[in-house]
Amino acid sequence: MKIIFLGAPGAGKGTQAEIVSKKLAIPTVSTGNIIRAALKNGTPMGLQAKAFIEAGKLVPDEVVIGIIKDRLAEDDCKNGFILDGFPRTIPQAQALDEMGIVIDKVIDIEVADEKIAKRMSGRRVCKSCGNSYHLEYKKPAVEGVCDACGGELVQRKDDAPETVLERLKVYHDETEPLKNYYDKQGKLVIVEGQEEVADTTALTLKALEDNA
Ligand code: AP5
Repeated sequence: MKIIFLGAPGAGKGTQAEIVSKKLAIPTVSTGNIIRAALKNGTPMGLQAKAFIEAGKLVPDEVVIGIIKDRLAEDDCKNGFILDGFPRTIPQAQALDEMGIVIDKVIDIEVADEKIAKRMSGRRVCKSCGNSYHLEYKKPAVEGVCDACGGELVQRKDDAPETVLERLKVYHDETEPLKNYYDKQGKLVIVEGQEEVADTTALTLKALEDNA
């Protein structure tokens, strides 16, 4: 199955993508994670993306489309994949269509902007492996320490409150029009994001099963 997770920053796309990816045994391709890894490794692409990410802006389409082309050509994507954070603009969605990739479902996770600010302020990520936690909703066993690798948990630079506001604005201006794009293709399913992660997962899995 080929699935896209749409939604505002902090709506829970990454969290749901990780869970559904295990359940369906297909990889998650997260452009945010790929760009952050490039940034950490100081690659030319990472250096190019740094200022955009830290200001809450989108990385230019041609850079992200190039990343996706290479990643989806890898062997593990042959039997399906979940796209988390791509496409984010109409030209990115058109590029996916031009690659001949037929998406089965687009799950749009809806969460009000006011709730997002709270979620983002509590998110902590592992400096070493990138695993994501939340001070309230997904606590690590030991405060400030990653359960998976023992790395230090820190706040993402783009989770600072003023940058979150900019990311929300960019989402409404540039990404939200994709709902209409995929609705016209008959692929869009809206999932109302719930307070509990498991409740959102139940709705997401149901949306994937219906008319699969
Ligand atoms: P990216 O990493 O994709 O960030 P994002 O879309 O802004 O998504 P987030 O990871 O912030 O949110 P999420 O919806 O995955 O939420 P999560 O599950 O983590 O992109 C970062 C940047 O990279 C972009 O700003 C841009 O610059 C660049 N970029 C990436 N892709 C690009 C593209 N295609 N084009 C151009 N530029 C691109 O949840 C958030 C928090 O809430 C977590 O702490 C989680 O534990 C908690 N939580 C999750 N679900 C629930 C729940 N149900 N109840 C309570 N808490 C919950």
